[in-house]
Amino acid sequence: MATGGRPSDILMVAAIDFGTTYSGYAYSMKGEYERDKLNIHANTAWNSGTSTVMSLKAPTCILLRKETKELVAFGYDAENEYADIASTGRVDDYYYFERFKMVLYTREDISREMEIDDIRGSSLPAIDVFAASIGALREHMMGHVERQGLNLQPDEIKWVLTVPAMWTDKAKEFMRESAEKAGIRRDRLMIALEPEAASIYCQHLPPDKMTGAIEGFSVADDDTKYLVVDIGGGTVDITAHHKVCQDNLQELCSASGGACGGTTVDKEFLNFLENIVGERVMESLANDNSASYLDLVREFEILKRSISVPTKKKINFTIKPFADLNGLCLRFLEKEFKDVIDDSEYRDKISLVGDKMRMDGDLMKSLFDTACSHIVQEIRKVLKKIPTTNLKTFLLVGGFSECLIVQDAIQQAFPDVRILIPREDPGLAVAKGAVLFGHKPDFITSRITRCTYGRRIRPLFDESRHDPSKRVYGETGDRCRDVFETFMQKNKRVPVDEIVNVEYHTVMSSQGSVSVAIYYTLKDNARYVDDNGCKKLGEFRVPIPSPSAERRHVDVQFKFGWTELEVIATERQTGERTRYNFSLIN
Ligand SMILES: Nc1ncnc2c1ncn2[C@@H]1O[C@H](COP(=O)(O)OP(=O)(O)OP(=O)(O)O)[C@@H](O)[C@H]1O
Ligand SMILES: [Mg+2]
Repeated sequence: MATGGRPSDILMVAAIDFGTTYSGYAYSMKGEYERDKLNIHANTAWNSGTSTVMSLKAPTCILLRKETKELVAFGYDAENEYADIASTGRVDDYYYFERFKMVLYTREDISREMEIDDIRGSSLPAIDVFAASIGALREHMMGHVERQGLNLQPDEIKWVLTVPAMWTDKAKEFMRESAEKAGIRRDRLMIALEPEAASIYCQHLPPDKMTGAIEGFSVADDDTKYLVVDIGGGTVDITAHHKVCQDNLQELCSASGGACGGTTVDKEFLNFLENIVGERVMESLANDNSASYLDLVREFEILKRSISVPTKKKINFTIKPFADLNGLCLRFLEKEFKDVIDDSEYRDKISLVGDKMRMDGDLMKSLFDTACSHIVQEIRKVLKKIPTTNLKTFLLVGGFSECLIVQDAIQQAFPDVRILIPREDPGLAVAKGAVLFGHKPDFITSRITRCTYGRRIRPLFDESRHDPSKRVYGETGDRCRDVFETFMQKNKRVPVDEIVNVEYHTVMSSQGSVSVAIYYTLKDNARYVDDNGCKKLGEFRVPIPSPSAERRHVDVQFKFGWTELEVIATERQTGERTRYNFSLIN
């Protein structure tokens, strides 16, 4: 399996947690890991400038110069510089991208050519934006490493990049190619799955480092089964784990989830403001007063993190860009902001005192409703997949799991479940767990497949089974085209080192290569490769040395139990083995 290089060459494992809202990194030296597994370093001082939001991660936003497409800044620096640039009016000279990871979840057309829009609608190939961001995180980390007095050669570092477990193989491959574009060698890179990484981290945490854990009760006991719920900014990513025994964790069901992370609340808040002041005011604030807009969003982030349960009767929110918002109301609505509020549907629930908005606690709490009910719904879906496993422990990780409203909603929906949360910044559990995973890639010993995989074949036509529209007439017998031949079923437990062998062969004399294509469906099965929901994952060609008249064979080994789909093809006559990856075709 792709474990990111020979263990003897590797002196350090470095992990990048590329999040929807926040990104961070963590690393540890091999020697440190051997002495104390939890001796993992992370950057604890992201320079947030004027903002009071303290975080062990930096916002996932990037500023690039338009002319040269080179990096200007990443993270808080990018936010601050963009705010400066916006106030001087030179925004057209720059690209500013934020929260763009979700495109790899929402878009179906993932390819190397896929473009994404920045905050003002200028587009760039997504792979360049992801690569520049990964590159910026890598550089930041290397600076941190050097300041610790460590001097490492690139070959001595194993990189681990985290991705949501519920992503498609294509999205994972996109991240891999972005990392390569950022200068990380393919053979030094591993992909880790976010909830898995967090789960591994919590396996190493002593109970006193976990909220909700009591003596004799932790996820690390042998034969413990628990749900892992990674509630981040963009998504909730859920899986279930079984700690069988020491260093042996198994996945109990395939990972799934939805787009209901913390940013759902941000969107609800912006919608709520738009309901009051209208689309034109909000658009103008975002596009023509970007610095003020950023202030508003940042201020809400601070408020969002301070909400308690039960929610206070009244909540005060300082509208930092009050003057701008008021000016826009006067310009577009010919009324003061205060009068706009008084004329809105919320007149009984909010009032304005100077630049402070006083909101009803219930109104504020309602902004969390969509996210909370969606999260609970996604958890129920996962539990339904394993009805006979009586899961009574939920491990919550990810920044949004710190939200008391979210914790309360989950506890209310599942009253007899014990909720465990790593005490020290659950937001870093993923990055630190990814480091542990890099040191010991086989900590998870088996996984459950998320798709059914197969290939396209042309068997002899069978009237009792095949669709007449697929019939191809031929001299040596009629055949059926586009038949989906399954070689891996969905929801199957696959040990990490299990190999599925599939034989391919030439069909013509002197054929110079054999094409290997793989199709997948999220359904349990497919009859034809063009069935609804069935897609081509990718294709590659295996060269046939000295092509000859007789039939030549290629043996393809698939590993479905790993974090990424691994493929090795062997040309039978020469014994030549090659590792392939499915390129990002459309
Ligand atoms: N104490 C808190 N209370 C409420 N929300 C919080 C708190 N801390 C962080 N959040 C929210 O959690 C989200 C960030 O979590 P995290 O850093 O785990 O996400 P991410 O890794 O960027 O996203 P993803 O994993 O979905 O790609 C943000 O929406 C943030 O507002
Ligand atoms: Mg995350």
